[in-house]
Amino acid sequence: MPGKGSMTRPGREVGGTEEACWLDILGIEPAALASARPVYRALAQAIETAITGGAVRQGTRLPPERLLAELLGLSRTTVVQAYRELERRGLVRGHVGRGTYVSAMPDPESAPFAWRGKVAATALRSHGTSLRDLMGDAAEPHRLSTAVGTPALDVFPVEAVSEALDRAMRRYGAAVWTHGPTQGQDVLRAHLAARYGTAPSQTLVLSGAQQGLDLVARCLVDPGDVVIIDRPGYPGAIHAFREAGARLHGWDVVRGDLDELDDLLLRSRPKLIYTNPTFQNPTGWTMPVRTRRAFLAVASRYRVPVVEDDTYRELYLGAAGPPTLQSMDPHACVIHLNSFGKVLAPGLRLGWLSAAEPIIDHLSALKQRADPQTQNLVQFLVADLLDSGAYDAHLGRLRVEHRRRSQAAAAAIQRAIRPEVLRLTAIPSGGLYFWCRLAADIESRDLLRSALPHGVAFVPGHAFYADPAGAHELRICFATIRPSDAESFGQRLAASLESARGILSVRDTLNADHR
Ligand SMILES: Cc1ncc(COP(=O)(O)O)c(C=O)c1O
Repeated sequence: MPGKGSMTRPGREVGGTEEACWLDILGIEPAALASARPVYRALAQAIETAITGGAVRQGTRLPPERLLAELLGLSRTTVVQAYRELERRGLVRGHVGRGTYVSAMPDPESAPFAWRGKVAATALRSHGTSLRDLMGDAAEPHRLSTAVGTPALDVFPVEAVSEALDRAMRRYGAAVWTHGPTQGQDVLRAHLAARYGTAPSQTLVLSGAQQGLDLVARCLVDPGDVVIIDRPGYPGAIHAFREAGARLHGWDVVRGDLDELDDLLLRSRPKLIYTNPTFQNPTGWTMPVRTRRAFLAVASRYRVPVVEDDTYRELYLGAAGPPTLQSMDPHACVIHLNSFGKVLAPGLRLGWLSAAEPIIDHLSALKQRADPQTQNLVQFLVADLLDSGAYDAHLGRLRVEHRRRSQAAAAAIQRAIRPEVLRLTAIPSGGLYFWCRLAADIESRDLLRSALPHGVAFVPGHAFYADPAGAHELRICFATIRPSDAESFGQRLAASLESARGILSVRDTLNADHR
């Protein structure tokens, strides 16, 4: 390896990306690197030296792994390992789809404090930032982002909520500001139990449905256990179960083949089945009543608990969905999970689950460790909205608005793009999403890269699979597209497709020239 002096070129700083200059800027001699062992650590060291010496500034995007591998005549895996090593040292941060950025400027006199190296092995499994990155993308004001699953927040009932807040503070007085029960406020649990046909003692209030998934995963899953999960399915569930150490097996929810499910249960003896059977995320699909019956029969034959994530139940666009799995289950093996995030607002962080009392007790004990109680004010607020009828009035208006948005967005997409290029797999009868299929020559990750400069965003299909699938699929949250923006969204998406195809054909030509 060359010494520190020869690795940095004082006075040269990276701002743009003159590709060929990268080796010079990083001060790397390919021949010296090739003889080092292990190569990835020598490469990481060279880049660290460039950062420490000031040749590469904080916030700089490092060269893409493939490019650096080509420039150095190394395998891409070696460069990936080097970037991971730098991440472990706390010097760079990788962002899915956006590249690797210098995140810390260590004091040249001392080594940086490498927090990453201190993080427990189980916590290291949960460092994925892609969902949070999407939230950041959605916040970009000029972007028509359909990436995050939210209802039409611009019709949020501000007046009704502020009146309900006023009432709740007067009505519940000091109870708003003091500690509350971990299982949730009695008044809210009573409303939930009455509305969804369970008992208050079988109801646990949550800080959002995601907390319920985390609790269920921690409560029921031991490392190595198999969990059967919708395929495609909700990424938050995939993460929660995976981080609990589960081995995930997908069941194709739309095909709904119960022999396949039976076979899967027989072979893998899973710890639980997770499903989102009504207006599913991402497909919008709803499990028919007959399938529900057979599904429960299979689960009970193998004595496998079912987690029914029912987050979208109330968001039907035409007729209401079929009864819940929980209401059809005579064996009390279903844990039912729900949220106010998709009807009121995700920022309220309020959800709940209902299940048999023994499991509620375990889940409450686990919840208490990290979140002794869900905040009182939001519980009293929502109890008041349910009580006064303001919740149902809002829901009625929201359904009408979502229907308008779904129709306007579907029509605009279909006008702008031929179905052979991008096809909506179905017009959903509820929920928030269009699940779309792309032509075989376009991958949704490439399309997203082209879409961001056109001011549109969506979620590429791979996020919804626990296995490497979904390359030609994507999810659009139609509820975030105002009817007045629908036409523009369709056109921007069409333009993104053209850009992606242009880039891909250039890439193909270059590859062909290379061969
Ligand atoms: C199927 C499903 N379950 C759970 C959640 C999480 O909901 P919450 O915001 O209440 O945590 C989501 C959010 O997108 C979801 O789509």
